[in-house]
Amino acid sequence: MTALDGATALATAAGTAAGTAARTAARTAVGTATIGQRPGAPAPWIDDPYSQALRAGRGPLFLRRADGWLLPLDVERWCAAPDAADTGLVYRCLRGPVLDIGCGPGRLVAAIAATGVPALGVDVSPAAVARTRGAGGAVLCRSVFDRLPAEGRWGTALLVDGNVGIGGDPRALLARVGELVAPGGRLLVEAAAYDVDERFTVRVEDGRGRHGRDFPWARLGPAALRAAAADTGWTTAEEWSADGRNFAELWRC
Ligand SMILES: C[S@@+](CC[C@H](N)C(=O)[O-])C[C@H]1O[C@@H](n2cnc3c(N)ncnc32)[C@H](O)[C@@H]1O
Repeated sequence: MTALDGATALATAAGTAAGTAARTAARTAVGTATIGQRPGAPAPWIDDPYSQALRAGRGPLFLRRADGWLLPLDVERWCAAPDAADTGLVYRCLRGPVLDIGCGPGRLVAAIAATGVPALGVDVSPAAVARTRGAGGAVLCRSVFDRLPAEGRWGTALLVDGNVGIGGDPRALLARVGELVAPGGRLLVEAAAYDVDERFTVRVEDGRGRHGRDFPWARLGPAALRAAAADTGWTTAEEWSADGRNFAELWRC
């Protein structure tokens, strides 16, 4: 199945006539991901070291803050088959169709689809989209803040591997995801490993001198996630930890 076919099929599965929109949008270049970036370095997530790492299937790769703080990115795990913590997420995707926001190389999209639940990945990185497609997953090269197929009809959305940081404003992102899921829909979201509530500017680096442009990012620990969820119309139904990672299941009120 191609990305285009996948998006169209999922739009249909979501009970919408958004197939045409999905086709059009699947041909659209990446939109909001490039907003607010300094010229002169590769765009974040798109043609910076992230793409090269995804093509190679390995790091080293880091998010670096201006003050020197360094967060290692687990490219090898993202490019591998789902581990036990991921599998726990897959089996919580009971309500389809599922939208994996910032799907990266697509291990979750492919695994969810393999259970028979329709799943679509969305990611701004062409390298991530290519890998997801290669893994057999349906995927769109698009920002979560762009128009998406079947808005308001997704049964479950995912924000995994720190993706609650996308855009650097978790409340804006949670509100946006609230527009995407159906009434009573679910959001499975990963929190940081400990209690932080941070918004900052980072860039992707490979530790060997190559880096992309600055972009906004955020990190929320479990307590901050709970508060942000409550502020944006989500109810925290459950929280759990697996392999040192923290997750929450939010329900759309
Ligand atoms: C921390 S990585 C997460 C990787 C992914 N969850 C996985 O399983 O490999 C963040 C991902 O979000 C994507 N991303 C960043 N901004 C985005 C946006 N506005 N809309 C959709 N995806 C975005 C990046 O391209 C990247 O693949």
